[in-house]
Amino acid sequence: NYYAVIMAGGIGTRFWPISTSKHPKQFHDVLGVGQTLIQRTFERINDLVPSKNILIATNENYEDLVLKQLSKVNKNQVLLEPAMKNTAPCILYAALKIYDQNPDAVMLVAPSDHWIDDENEFTKNIKTSFDACAEKDILMTLGIQPDTPNTGYGYIQFKKETSEIKKVRNFTEKPDLQTAQKFLESGDYLWNAGIFVWSAKSIITAFKNYLPKMVDILDDGNNVYNTNFEDDFIKNNYTKCKSISIDFGIMEKAKNVHVLPVDFGWSDLGTWGSLYNKLEKDETNNAVVGANTIFRDANGNMVRTQSGKKVVIQGLSDFIIIEKDDVLLICPKKDEQDIKQISAAVKTMFGDE
Ligand code: GDD
Ligand code: MG
Repeated sequence: NYYAVIMAGGIGTRFWPISTSKHPKQFHDVLGVGQTLIQRTFERINDLVPSKNILIATNENYEDLVLKQLSKVNKNQVLLEPAMKNTAPCILYAALKIYDQNPDAVMLVAPSDHWIDDENEFTKNIKTSFDACAEKDILMTLGIQPDTPNTGYGYIQFKKETSEIKKVRNFTEKPDLQTAQKFLESGDYLWNAGIFVWSAKSIITAFKNYLPKMVDILDDGNNVYNTNFEDDFIKNNYTKCKSISIDFGIMEKAKNVHVLPVDFGWSDLGTWGSLYNKLEKDETNNAVVGANTIFRDANGNMVRTQSGKKVVIQGLSDFIIIEKDDVLLICPKKDEQDIKQISAAVKTMFGDE
């Protein structure tokens, strides 16, 4: 009864210029480990879920990339979205399709662009969550011990219970900095890892309660899923859904949210700084992916270059230096959040790559 949905429709704009709308972050070997992020994600999940039960939700533009990179995935396991509508609609689509296949299904929903050090621990945690969700009508998320007031994450306040899985009192998606600082200092909160487990039935019920219009649009009541009519139905209806994340749409509102605190070396690789933190550094704290780089009087830089180019960096510290094809980005690490706007500006000026 185990299923999984890998969400792979985002663009990862803060990882520009490597991540672009033509070839987003999840389809790159960001860490230089010989596998792309989505390939690693698939393998990790495939330890627990049979490959035929793993669905990939993505934009129709990325179908070829998915099928090329994931050889165990068949065309009918790729859910193609005709428009970018954030995570709630793609999760409902997947849940309806899975429920149609197996009304007792429990499903893992995972991002395609994260890194996890300890995959055995991950598997153990997901197994625990699967068991809990098979028994109870609960929505589960995994919680990470926070160490900075990062405003890019959801924050979870939970009930102090002795049980391994704890009831959530409060879920706050992407708070402002002041609120995030308050949450961090209180010691009461976990970060939302963005990795969820629930039964197909429980999440569909939650959508009926909190996003009923979306259910009216995507649940045709006619068993269209897993038939020849599915693709046309989605083409004609998916764009009618409102664009909203699962976090704002469901997790902040539902009363049956539970969290399993986890510790498996998680990184969401959201920014160049998070990749820098993950990589091994030399004695002057520079991190390099794939380059012959010489540092002189230079500390704390994140460098990624292509095709063995020799690079010399003199007298420059705490910079992000990224080369990709005809683009070179040189940006102070402290401004990493601005890369989202930078990539948009470049797109306006030079067009889409
Ligand atoms: N299929 C599909 N369609 N996938 C999408 C879409 C879409 O329209 N939009 C985003 N995704 C995918 C992304 O590729 C990523 O793998 C995942 O869904 C999460 O989307 P993000 O855009 O990366 O979300 P976030 O990082 O801002 O926030 C989420 O993750 C944080 C942890 O990394 C939230 O769940 C936060 O609460 C959480 O802390
Ligand atoms: Mg993310």
